[in-house]
Amino acid sequence: MCGIVGYIGQRNCVPILIEGLKRLEYRGYDSAGIGILNGSDSVIVKNKGKVSLLQEKVEQLNLSSTIGIGHTRWATHGIPNETNAHPHTNTDDSLFLIHNGIIENYQTLKKGLMNLGYRFRSETDSEVLPHLIDSFLRKGNDLVKSVQLALQEVEGTYGIAIIYTKEPDKIVAARKGSPLIVGLGQNENFVASDVSAVLAHTKQVVYLEDGEIAVITKNDFCAKTIYDDEIRKEVHEITMSLEEIDKGGYPHFMLKEIMEQPESLRNSMRGRILLEEGNAKLGGLADVADRLANSKRILISACGTSWHAGLVGEYMFEQFTRIPTEVEYASEFRYRNPIVGSDDTVFFISQSGETADTLAALREAKLRGALALGICNAVGSSIARESEAGVYTHAGPEIGVASTKAFTSQLVVLALITLLIGRKKNLSIEEGKKIASELFQIPDKVEKILKLNSEIESIASQFKDAKNFLYLGRGYNFPVALEGALKLKEISYIHAEGYPAAEMKHGPIALIDEDMPVVFIAPQDSTYEKIKSNIQEVKARGGKIIAVASENDNEIDHLVDYSIKIPDAIEMLRPILTVIPLQLLAYHIAVKKGLNVDQPRNLAKSVTVE
Ligand code: F6R
Repeated sequence: MCGIVGYIGQRNCVPILIEGLKRLEYRGYDSAGIGILNGSDSVIVKNKGKVSLLQEKVEQLNLSSTIGIGHTRWATHGIPNETNAHPHTNTDDSLFLIHNGIIENYQTLKKGLMNLGYRFRSETDSEVLPHLIDSFLRKGNDLVKSVQLALQEVEGTYGIAIIYTKEPDKIVAARKGSPLIVGLGQNENFVASDVSAVLAHTKQVVYLEDGEIAVITKNDFCAKTIYDDEIRKEVHEITMSLEEIDKGGYPHFMLKEIMEQPESLRNSMRGRILLEEGNAKLGGLADVADRLANSKRILISACGTSWHAGLVGEYMFEQFTRIPTEVEYASEFRYRNPIVGSDDTVFFISQSGETADTLAALREAKLRGALALGICNAVGSSIARESEAGVYTHAGPEIGVASTKAFTSQLVVLALITLLIGRKKNLSIEEGKKIASELFQIPDKVEKILKLNSEIESIASQFKDAKNFLYLGRGYNFPVALEGALKLKEISYIHAEGYPAAEMKHGPIALIDEDMPVVFIAPQDSTYEKIKSNIQEVKARGGKIIAVASENDNEIDHLVDYSIKIPDAIEMLRPILTVIPLQLLAYHIAVKKGLNVDQPRNLAKSVTVE
């Protein structure tokens, strides 16, 4: 998704902007640009494609300035090209603007502006903003007032940063529905859509809220609403280090993040497991725990991988708390007039905490009086802030576009919540202690599974040319089948589908022949005998079978082509283990196909537009 970075201070902003844009590359983009103010030498440089190409272009121009803004664009309105890339300008090129989000009423605004004589150069929705602001500047307003008046007419979402040749001492930034932070330094300040863009320079940040404008100068910053009310903002200290964001010696963020799961899982459970009481301590839910446990129904809403975590959560909640639980895609929930009210609790699961559909679903649930709780990884994110209460997953920054460690941490948090509610209801202390102690052992078991990396890599080399894949699992491992298929398709572009194994005979079995690899998630659990029959059905049709199986299962080797043996755990926690080989399988297949797994085509890390 698009990225924003801006600088005002005493240093040359050009390398700072380029470095900031590189830090934002992981969000996904297709063009990039910077704009700097320097009297008559004020200039915009932009291009389609990589930030490194922009850097080459900029270096040839030998630019220098102490104020500038930079942007990575992920096309929504208009193809990825140099004209549509940001910054966009007003007619006399005195005002430079970068925008994340979507201006929903841009066509109406554009028509009105064209009637006033404004001419548009790009196909973007964003370009209405510099012209609209310009129309207020022409009436004698200063920049801040013009931005405020313009934004009062705008419908949609935005994170924007603006610089203006006639007021070169400030950056004006504003937010509605698209994340934006101000970074505070010594004699220099920053604006960015993501802390990673400024972390090399400062750890002091201020989070802007919807409807707020920041006026950022070299030595100061102030926040107002778009209706000009002054706001006092809290300064937050970022504890995340740059090393945490870097690849830590691995060729890709995705592999680094898969490999650091023992640690991320420990972080997710640290201080939260009460082994002796067979319970969990979740400070973020303390005030709402009784209401949660007394809910008539639990809903879980999320997108993508986080939705898969929600499906596992449904199985956990229903098994151990006996509260009816439903899981729904946030994109469906938000638009279908859901039946939800004050007796319900709705969990919103999101790694980024910024997914537009999940955020909108959260607002819808709150409006209807449900207890709206967040399970987020990104601290201070929109979903975390707008939830009534919640639990952070503490998986650490996830940079690889394909979600891995965030998923397993979400499962840990869901297990902890299960314990918390279960113990308030009818889960015995003995059952609680069993779950707590099994949970405690999970990171060590994950460590053991990760040692199978080269074994899984060699299996992957046999399948890199496959065109289709089927993933099958039952019970708790059905959502893992969906997740395994999603991981493979999004980074290797191989078509893959996940199914509950028993559903195979209702259709997908028609696909099976010697060219169709089938991955079975087949640990020795309550569904083991049934899944063995499904394996036989595939084998009889010549399908190539990879099985993720229990470490002591010798029988399965006679049935399958490749088996990946992993430690056992109680059923509710097995998905945390069974998904790891599937993450590695997808990773190695994609790498063997020569693909950039950290930035798969057409995908963005944080989907902040619909
Ligand atoms: C898949 C993936 C996506 C995200 C989805 C939700 O690997 O990363 O499917 O899970 O876009 O994102 P969050 O969890 O940030 O709301």
